[in-house]
Amino acid sequence: MTNPDELAWWQRGVVYQIYPRSFQDATGNGVGDLAGVIRRLDYLAALGVDAIWLSPFYPSPMADFGYDVADYCDVAPLFGDLAAFDRLVAGAHARNIKIIVDWVPNHSSDQHPWFIESRSSRDNPKRDWYIWRDPKPDGSPPNNWGSHFGGPAWTFDEATGQYYLHQFVKEQPELNWRNPEVKAAMLDTLRFWLERGVDGFRMDVIGLLIKDADLRDNPPNPDADPNLPPNDLFGRQLHVYSHDQDEVHGVIREIRQVLDAYDDRCGIGELWGPLDRWIRYYGDSSPGSPTGDELHLPFNFRLMLLPWDAKAMRHSVDKLETALSVFGWPNYVLGNHDGARLATRFGGQAQARVAAMMLLTLRGTPTLYYGDELGMENGVIPPEKVQDPQGINLGIERTRDVCRTPMQWDGSPNAGFCPAGVEPWLPVSADYETRNVAAQSTDPTSILTLYRRLLALRRASPALYGGSYRPLDGVPDDCFVYLRESGDERKLAALNLSYAEQRVSLPDLGSSAEVLLSTHLDREGTVDLRNLKLRAHEGCVVALG
Ligand code: NOJ
Repeated sequence: MTNPDELAWWQRGVVYQIYPRSFQDATGNGVGDLAGVIRRLDYLAALGVDAIWLSPFYPSPMADFGYDVADYCDVAPLFGDLAAFDRLVAGAHARNIKIIVDWVPNHSSDQHPWFIESRSSRDNPKRDWYIWRDPKPDGSPPNNWGSHFGGPAWTFDEATGQYYLHQFVKEQPELNWRNPEVKAAMLDTLRFWLERGVDGFRMDVIGLLIKDADLRDNPPNPDADPNLPPNDLFGRQLHVYSHDQDEVHGVIREIRQVLDAYDDRCGIGELWGPLDRWIRYYGDSSPGSPTGDELHLPFNFRLMLLPWDAKAMRHSVDKLETALSVFGWPNYVLGNHDGARLATRFGGQAQARVAAMMLLTLRGTPTLYYGDELGMENGVIPPEKVQDPQGINLGIERTRDVCRTPMQWDGSPNAGFCPAGVEPWLPVSADYETRNVAAQSTDPTSILTLYRRLLALRRASPALYGGSYRPLDGVPDDCFVYLRESGDERKLAALNLSYAEQRVSLPDLGSSAEVLLSTHLDREGTVDLRNLKLRAHEGCVVALG
């Protein structure tokens, strides 16, 4: 077991994701910006997070809200400029907060100068920077791949008579990472930000960088939901040839070498798929790279995809703990800009607190999503206000706008996100008058207070940020109970995921124990572990003697 004192910042720290459009508008146009993030740095420092990950802020036509990048080395005027970015890095570092930027290497915008050149003619030197293929003899696309956002993954270019590949919207053409010039140019974009002082990257759909060399058809998915919309070709396929090709690992090793040329930087990858394939993205360890030679943290979304059930949570955590090699550091995500809000998904406000306690007491790096610390719920987006291409193409029930509504700072009009009288880019949720930072900051029992206390407890406890994990048997089915230990320090997390009181009996752990924190924030002091009573929706962190 690693000595907690020797852990890197990305192992012991907590990451907080900011969706810049939705965090704080400082310019008064209804869209968040970097100056807004700077304005809120003191809030983040007081919350107690160690790093912020910024979703894309690059120049972009915003076909996928910034995940369509038109210049990898600049800031969109909508969000600020490079000077504002530098101020943000300096301000964050002055508060001991690391900066992680989103890097979108699989696809650019169709307005990126590289693609404009590439599509200009078949013999343009940049033609091969993207993935172009002839139509089939009948004029149809080169293979059957579907786009994540509906329809085929190919768009025909009339002027040059070929199709180009895009597994997201057609404005996101995919770069050809088999071309060494593309690789070199993209690795340079990493160096650009590393030189500016960023501490790490969150790498978008990193497992897609390399496709099957022959671009073979994907097989059908026998388990596809029969009610998928007709245009959801992607949902009807297994992504055998379009995702997670063995050769991608060589490319990720090269990306890692770029990071390793700088001190203490971190690579986090967006990765899906079964555990045995996912785990390979840590790479191999060698004397020179004791943390593995690929990603420091392949994002672990498993808990987010499961039903909120104690056995399901424990099973997933145990499987991960067993599968990880000594150098693979765990991590957990319960919410992000692509899914439902944690408080909506995990059985309401009361259980959102239990989820927070779990996320911040498991072994491994937690990633928090802005607003989850307030218990923000899915926003209600009227059909005419839907912005997300996924919602527009695949149906309003699939829109990701629900988890991207403006951060709720106070009870003033527009929740302090943007000035009164300005229309925010997505509607502010109706509960902002009571669910906001200002109101919750002064409420000793609010979920925000719980997050602050959990973060402080974790930061002060080597057992919690760096100790071992041991699940405990013989507890009620609706409870997830585990020990975190480091040296003599022992902490117990006892989580009741149900709507009923539960009694946990742990006679082997000794009788002297002290509740440090309850999700209800109304209880501290000595407990008898032979009969630990957990109220409905209650989780406790307990110090063992
Ligand atoms: C994953 C990102 O999280 C998502 O928001 C985006 O739409 C796709 N990748 C495409 O970049």
